[in-house]
Amino acid sequence: MATAAALLVAAAAGAVGAGGLSLDFHAASCPQLEGIVRGVVQAARAKDVQLTAGLLRIFFHDCLPQGCDASILLDGEKSNGPNSSLQPRALQLIEDVRAKVHAACGPTVSCADIIVLATRDAVSLAGGPSFQVPLGRTDSLRPASDGEIGTLPSPFFDVSTLLDTFRSKGLGDPADLVALSGGHTVGKASCSFIRANDDFSRGLAANCSAGRPGTKQSLDVITPDAFDNRYFVALRKTQGVLFSDQGLARDQRTSGIVSEFANNQSAFFRQFAKSMVKLGSIKGAAAGEIRRNCFRPNNRVNNLRDIVTALIDDTAIVALTRAVALVVALRNRQAGGAACSRVGPPPLPPRRGRGIVGDFANDQQRFFSQFPASMMKLSQLIKAPPRRQV
Ligand code: HEM
Ligand SMILES: *[C@@H]1O[C@H](CO)[C@@H](O)[C@H](O)[C@H]1NC(C)=O
Ligand SMILES: *[C@@H]1O[C@H](CO)[C@@H](O)[C@H](O)[C@H]1NC(C)=O
Ligand SMILES: *[C@@H]1O[C@H](CO)[C@@H](O)[C@H](O)[C@H]1NC(C)=O
Repeated sequence: MATAAALLVAAAAGAVGAGGLSLDFHAASCPQLEGIVRGVVQAARAKDVQLTAGLLRIFFHDCLPQGCDASILLDGEKSNGPNSSLQPRALQLIEDVRAKVHAACGPTVSCADIIVLATRDAVSLAGGPSFQVPLGRTDSLRPASDGEIGTLPSPFFDVSTLLDTFRSKGLGDPADLVALSGGHTVGKASCSFIRANDDFSRGLAANCSAGRPGTKQSLDVITPDAFDNRYFVALRKTQGVLFSDQGLARDQRTSGIVSEFANNQSAFFRQFAKSMVKLGSIKGAAAGEIRRNCFRPNNRVNNLRDIVTALIDDTAIVALTRAVALVVALRNRQAGGAACSRVGPPPLPPRRGRGIVGDFANDQQRFFSQFPASMMKLSQLIKAPPRRQV
């Protein structure tokens, strides 16, 4: 398809200068990556179409404040403010994908990259554009600061303030703001965010609040769950839900773009793919890591279960353990007897002990030959049970 090919070129061109990110970053180290991500997202979305919206919003909140670094997933960050309404199932999906990817490839892919890939797939599975995304991000070591969090825009901002917010993050083309706001072609908002400055919006707000507690309003009133250009059609009919959405159709810097997207879905898709790559390439702090659990920095891996899981996830460590076991076995075979004590400190006088503890206390070599065997057993034991959290 000609448009799809054009889209790929556009997205790839956007990747140039993305600062360390590249389209084939994981091609050699984890060739299974994209297949695993797509499989998990596809299965999850088949059960819950809202997942596309959940992932898109996580992507936006992760990337805008300080660059995509999975800080959004850290415990304590997601409990208040704009993040409290992030979909728990979409957050968990990122960690589920990570576990699968790390089981297949070792800890080579960051949670931040997984957010980007899963969101990209969720968009195309909902009917939106397919596009390539540059990869190679690392995960933050700490939560974002209040100042960084405060840069997320409010639904009560006017267009000037929205343009300023996006420009300050390197999204300086008004088409970036308009196309990315098109993410509201899926998903829902709490009643309290609905604008109330005309009859249509007051009706929506009243009906929403009259519903059961927790009722939400679809952001695209025409096709709520499909990724298409009807959100822009609704804006043209003054049927936008948020003040920040409806403003785009009124302001002369953005209204022409809204009309173009309302009339031409491929124009929206093309710009959306380009702006998503830009949003996904905002530069953050340099220091990062590949988290072994998306919900916690590695240095907070602090209970036995986590240590064991981190160890087992880490194929490098498993490989190292195997190597150590091999070296120990070879040394035992070649040197025999008390070889170890000859190179080390003088042998301790034999001590008395009971049972296995006594055996190990009296004979270090027995301990050394049992230890790697038990480590291997442990690694095979723990690998099976899937981790559930939240
Ligand atoms: C332009 C500035 C933006 C503002 C002021 C804004 C504001 C909001 C608000 C208030 C909600 C409702 C939250 C709730 O009540 O649960 C929301 C939902 C959502 N936003 Fe935005 N947003 C903006 C940009 C974006 C961008 C750039 C994207 C993605 C490309 C995005 C994707 C979404 C999605 C998908 C939802 C629905 C989430 C769900 O149903 O779980 N938003 N947004
Ligand atoms: C919301 O998301 C940002 C982006 O990652 C995160 O850094 C921040 O801590 C979260 N905000 C709150 C209030 O938890
Ligand atoms: C009114 O709200 C209910 C949910 O409470 C919803 O199902 C219905 O579609 C809404 N009606 C209109 C006209 O928006
Ligand atoms: C719609 O947008 C696409 C992509 O920008 C463009 O190639 C095409 O010419 C546009 N179609 C019309 C009818 O304007």
